[in-house]
This record gives sequence, structure tokens and C-alpha cells, in this order.
Amino acid sequence: MDKQQILVVDDDESITFSLKIFLGKAGYRVDTTASGLEAWNLIETKQYPLILSDISLPGMTGKEILKKVKTRGIDCELILFTGYGSVRDAVDCIKNGAYDYFIKPVDNDKLLMAIERALEHKALRDENRGLRKKLGKNYDKQIVFCSKTMEDLLNKAKIAAETGATILITGTSGTGKTRLAKYIHNHSKKRDQPFVEVSCGVLSENLLESELFGHKKGAFTGAVSDKKGKFEAAKDGTIFLDDINSASMGLQTKLLRVIEQKIFEPVGDTRTLETNARVIAATNHDLLELSEKKVFREDLFHRLNVISFGIPSLRERKEDIPVLIHHFMANSSDKYLKPIKMIDENVLVSLSEYSWPGNVRELENIIERAVIFSQNNEIKMSDIPEYIVSNKKTKEDEVLTKGSLKLSRVSAMFEKVHILRVLKMNHSNRNKTAESLGISRATLFNKMKKYDMLGNNEQKM
Ligand SMILES: Nc1ncnc2c1ncn2[C@@H]1O[C@H](COP(=O)(O)OP(=O)(O)O)[C@@H](O)[C@H]1O
Ligand SMILES: [Mg+2]
Repeated sequence: MDKQQILVVDDDESITFSLKIFLGKAGYRVDTTASGLEAWNLIETKQYPLILSDISLPGMTGKEILKKVKTRGIDCELILFTGYGSVRDAVDCIKNGAYDYFIKPVDNDKLLMAIERALEHKALRDENRGLRKKLGKNYDKQIVFCSKTMEDLLNKAKIAAETGATILITGTSGTGKTRLAKYIHNHSKKRDQPFVEVSCGVLSENLLESELFGHKKGAFTGAVSDKKGKFEAAKDGTIFLDDINSASMGLQTKLLRVIEQKIFEPVGDTRTLETNARVIAATNHDLLELSEKKVFREDLFHRLNVISFGIPSLRERKEDIPVLIHHFMANSSDKYLKPIKMIDENVLVSLSEYSWPGNVRELENIIERAVIFSQNNEIKMSDIPEYIVSNKKTKEDEVLTKGSLKLSRVSAMFEKVHILRVLKMNHSNRNKTAESLGISRATLFNKMKKYDMLGNNEQKM
């Protein structure tokens, strides 16, 4: 590994001198300076991954250096030194983004450990940033899956996306309806136009109508000025009507009209406006059943149902769990700057056996929480809630889980995705990949063989 360069700033020369020798022996290249201003000049010209600085300095204080580094967006870590008197300043610095602080006299061995951690922290951030760029992926837009069901569904969704037709998405809460709606929008010709979301479940009938179609000043008490509705805001883009089952019968009539004839009237207005927005609706109810009960218009149901996608609950597509875990781990690890390297196999088993009533949303929250609580770069059983571990399967779950993933399958799938990711990060360099994974090249080779990741001519080796 390249020697990393560290800047040490302290007006006490005995400190800069001894740190230069100590850190030099530990394998770092060290620049030193006694002045905050000179430190700033150095920081601007060289890219230090790490700066060690005293807080009280002549000219420019350690606090000011920190502030400048952060406001200029310079990507480096800071560790500060302080005397007993100014611990409060040091704590402020941590709040403002310093990595750590030490009270003088500094214990060199502890400092060395902090330096290693800080550099690892930065390396992870660089790695994630690089990875994101390389994969050109956006955590918020991707639909992660492994199951054949989702693959088929997305293939059909892509075809439907291009047609501009009205689409209905069904599925219980947290299965990914909103995300699929955005996916469809992003795969349609309207992708550069607005995507506007309206939840039909939260507003009262009148407010929802004005939210959708806009209103004229004075149309009702509280309508103090003209207001444009979401159909206007969506322009030629997509309007996503979430929880469509909550729209009143009266509003359903208006929605049918806007879908069929592309026209609507703002509340209290005599004008009829036109719209070219595509409608995507979603619900976690059975609209057929609601229409049989006469609480949902049958004609609207049929109109919406021409193209519909039912997203299965997560427990009906357990093959998606390992890749989703991996995806959310990478995402949270990036968000909280916590480099997770390992996950206890038992955690994988518990997570894949759990019935996930809250579907993907629940899984996402559990992983985020686990990453936050994780220590030593590892997710352990103690990082996931007790109810997931002690989850007693219901009869129904028992049937659904039958023939589903065994422990070895879950960890294997997880491992495969993990290896792929690290390989990509290292431009397929296997030495580096093995090193990042903490395994030997031979072990990596065997794993790649096992997971069918080798080129054809390598198989026989
Ligand atoms: N296949 C998926 N891949 C990645 N993230 C997903 C996937 N499905 C759902 N999510 C995430 O799970 C959460 C719940 O999804 P959402 O689309 O809001 O569900 P719904 O609208 O059905 O309640 C969101 O944070 C979403 O981004
Ligand atoms: Mg939703």
C-alpha cells in the first residue's frame, strides 16, 4: 500500500518533531508546520487524507481550519489535540465534522489507532463514491431483485412504460409500488417531464379534488387565491395516484373523465382544461372486491385494470431477500459512513425466515437500524430486533416458506453478490479483491468457481 501523507500542525515543536518520527516509523509520510495559516496553504495545495492539528494555534485556530475544510468541501479527516481547558471546543469540533480529539499529552499508540480508523473511514467513503460512479447506479432509483417473478414483472413494466397507457399497481404496503411507478416513469418517453405524486388517502374529499385539479380564488372558504392542481403540475409527465381506493365516488367520476377524455375543471372554475399526463394508480386493496361492494366504480376499475401489475409480498419472493439486504447494507453503510464488512450467517437466516409483514420497507428499516448499531464492521444477531429472531411462523407462512431458501443458499447468494461487488470495485483484479475480502487468492478462486463466476477457459484449472 502507498504511504499515506499526513499533515501535523502544532506550535509546540517538540510535538511535531516527535510525531514526525513516530508516524514515519509507522509507515506514514509526515509534513509538519507550526502555523495555522501555513497549514491552510499546504492543505489547499496537497491532498492530505488526514490532518492532525492542535486547536489553539497562532494565526488560524484548529477550529477555523476544520470549518474551512468542511465549507470548501475538502475531503480529509481531522483529528484535533487540545489541552484540558478546552475540551468543550473539541467536542464542538466533533459536532462540526472532526473525526476525533485527543487531550494532551497524547498517547501515541492510541493516536495511531485513531489514525488508522480515520483513514479507513475515508477510504470507505472514497470507495463508495467511486463505486457509485463506476456502477452509475442510483440507490434511490434501482429496483433490486433476484426472483424470476420480479424479473418478469419488470420486463413487462418496461414494455408497458413505453406505451404511455394508464397503469394500475397493486400490492400490500411496502412492496415497492411507489418505486415501481417511478421506474415506469423513468422508462417511458415522459422521463424528462415531471413525476407528480398524490396520495388519495390523506386529504378530505374536497381538498383532494382541489389538490388534483386546482381551484379558483373564492371557490370555497380558505381558497384565498387561484391554485394550480397536480394535473397541471404534471404537465406532459406522469401523475401517480397512490391509494386510489380512498378517492370518493364523486371524485372517481372525475378521475374517469380525466383518464378517458383528458379534460378536467378546476374547483369553482368554468373553464375546462386539458391534460396530457399519464396516470399511474396504486392501491393495497382489492379493487374488484370494492367494486362488487359498490364502493369503487366498476368502470373506473376496468379502465385502470387494462394494464396492471401485482407486486408479490416479500415472503412470496424470498430469493430477493439476500440481494435486498446487500443493497440496503451498502446504502446505509454509505449514508452513515460505517464500513460493514461482515454479516453473521445467523442474521441472514433469521432475516430470510422472517415473514416480513411490512415487506421491503420493513427490511430496509431493519437493515438501516442494524448498520447504525453495528460495531467492528460486523452485523451480529444483537443488532437485529428480538421479534425477528423469535418470529414464530404462522401456518400460512409455513406453507409459503416450504421449499424456500436453506441457510446455505441464503449465505451463498449473499456471498456471491458481495464478491461481485468487490470485484467490480477492484476492476476485476483478483489479488486486490482477495485482499479486500480478507481471504487468500486460492479461496477466492474456489468461491468464484463454486458460484460460476469464472471465464470458460478457467473452469478446468
Ligand atoms: N425492489 C426494491 N429494491 C430496492 N428498494 C426497494 C424495492 N422495493 C421497495 N424498495 C424500497 O422499500 C421502501 C418501500 O417501497 P415503496 O415503493 O414506498 O412501497 P409501497 O409504495 O408499496 O408502500 C422504499 O424505501 C423503497 O425505496
Ligand atoms: Mg407507496
